[in-house]
Amino acid sequence: MPHHYDYDVLIVGSGAAGLSLALHLAERHSVCVLSKGAITESATYYAQGGVSAVIDQNDTIESHVEDTLRAGAGLCHRDIVEFIVKQGRNRIDWLLEQGVPFTTTAAEDGSQAIHLTQEGGHSRRRVVHAADATGRAIETTLIERVRAHPKIELLADHVAIDLITTGKLGGTPDRCVGAYVLDRALGIVKTFRARWSALATGGAGKVYLYTSNPDVATGDGIAMAWRAGCAIANMEFVQFHPTCLYHPRAKTFLLTEALRGEGGHLLLPNGERFMHRFDARLELAPRDIVARAIDYEMKRLGSDFVYLDISHKPATFIRDHFPTIYQKCLEFGFDITTQPIPIVPAAHYLCGGVVTDVAGRTSLPGLFAIGEVAHTGLHGANRMASNSLLECLVTSKAAAEAIDFEGGDVPIAPNVPAWDESQVIDADEAIVVAHNWDELRRFMWDYVGIVRTTKRLERARRRVQLLHGEISDFYANYRVTADLIELRNLVQVAELIIRSALKRKESRGLHFTLDYPQVDDVNHARDTIIRAGDFS
Ligand code: FAD
Ligand code: SIN
Repeated sequence: MPHHYDYDVLIVGSGAAGLSLALHLAERHSVCVLSKGAITESATYYAQGGVSAVIDQNDTIESHVEDTLRAGAGLCHRDIVEFIVKQGRNRIDWLLEQGVPFTTTAAEDGSQAIHLTQEGGHSRRRVVHAADATGRAIETTLIERVRAHPKIELLADHVAIDLITTGKLGGTPDRCVGAYVLDRALGIVKTFRARWSALATGGAGKVYLYTSNPDVATGDGIAMAWRAGCAIANMEFVQFHPTCLYHPRAKTFLLTEALRGEGGHLLLPNGERFMHRFDARLELAPRDIVARAIDYEMKRLGSDFVYLDISHKPATFIRDHFPTIYQKCLEFGFDITTQPIPIVPAAHYLCGGVVTDVAGRTSLPGLFAIGEVAHTGLHGANRMASNSLLECLVTSKAAAEAIDFEGGDVPIAPNVPAWDESQVIDADEAIVVAHNWDELRRFMWDYVGIVRTTKRLERARRRVQLLHGEISDFYANYRVTADLIELRNLVQVAELIIRSALKRKESRGLHFTLDYPQVDDVNHARDTIIRAGDFS
């Protein structure tokens, strides 16, 4: 029996981008938001530092713009940066209206003002936060608002498999008309038809062995958009967060950059500070520089970690500002008020993604992409801390306006066939998926990590091609499962990262290769864009 569901707007993803878009649209449209696991499970939920915005009266839009451009190492699109930065204040006001409990502090006149913290690359205090669990405050508040809205359907455990396009159904012109979605609880594939679809699927940290990202970050949106013919940009710029807790049981728990913003130091195992050898901004240099410095020192010393130390600050200050981190580290046996914490860098954020304008429009009519899945041009070659949640909030509002602008006479596509399972059987060897998943993440870490070489990238390319073939065969012959869907997407995303990295024959921002250690402004001061049919 066919399972068809029709909405004005289908939103794939329930992080900051997807939930905000739903709230902006719901007065005028029927909306469905899908989440592939639990509704809260998203990078948004785990965000610690905060949202960057020009709030302080001594701060300026120009300063935020300049800091973003400097961090982005020549590849930010200035018009996009200006558009997004200018809306920081009104997006924070919107979050306050929704009820997000940001941390406040007593102002000189005795009133309560928003407290601002500092992070790498920012020349001012500019990061609005809710203690050290900003994402949790945003995500849970927005979910409450979405649940309370009668025109928004929120579905957990629904994994989008692929977009449905008129082109693939043999029609013209090409338009996205919905998606096929696996309902994990029922084990069936449903057909969602929509006038507009939006990918808000987040990043792809799980393509690496060590990552700060939650398990849902498998690049599904990028892979789906790519298969639907969208252009993809700047995939070589993978951001490694410098400071994740090093502990065999910690599953790469993030230690916010705000710890360094509030005075934390990086130390070698012998207790010596080292950032002065790499950058005059010391621990608050942009992330690419700090992560590379740590990687360099770990390799030089043969050490598995270096230390982050904030224990010179008063214990009450640390517990008040970083309650979540304090508790979490205690669980692993570290008291951050009295001792340094062992840390390592881990894959954290993907600056590249589906090419969009500032309203999330992709090259495929009917399809939007917003949040970490998208490449708007804001981040360039290196995202500045806390600019990502800001981007989610601004582009989701702009996307809602763009959908309204397109108007209501876009019809639901007729004659969309149901998912065809007649040619596949249940997989008899789940181990193949588990093994390939593990292999992929390991060679991406070893060969496509913080410091690259052409030889390592070529080696990774050969391996990813093999895996691609094997997984495509598996996908063609066996019934889909959530793990198989994710692995298929991860392999696609890995392939795009490697191809993009091989194209960039220079070192810039987050892409550093020993074979081309210099910036090459003559040949490479541009985005790396890969389009369908480009096999180089
Ligand atoms: P996410 O919040 O990741 O949400 C993605 C959603 O898509 C999830 O609901 C997921 O289930 C769903 N999904 C994915 N694939 C599918 C599929 N196939 N079918 C159905 N659903 C799917 N940025 C900042 O600006 N400030 C910070 O302080 C900050 N701290 C961070 C700390 C951590 C630990 C991490 C990991 C990231 C942090 N970032 C921070 C980055 C920022 O959190 C993310 O870039 C941002 O939250 C992304 O939001 P999003 O809505 O695009 O995606
Ligand atoms: C952090 O809190 O260090 C993460 C901030 C970010 O990724 O923007």
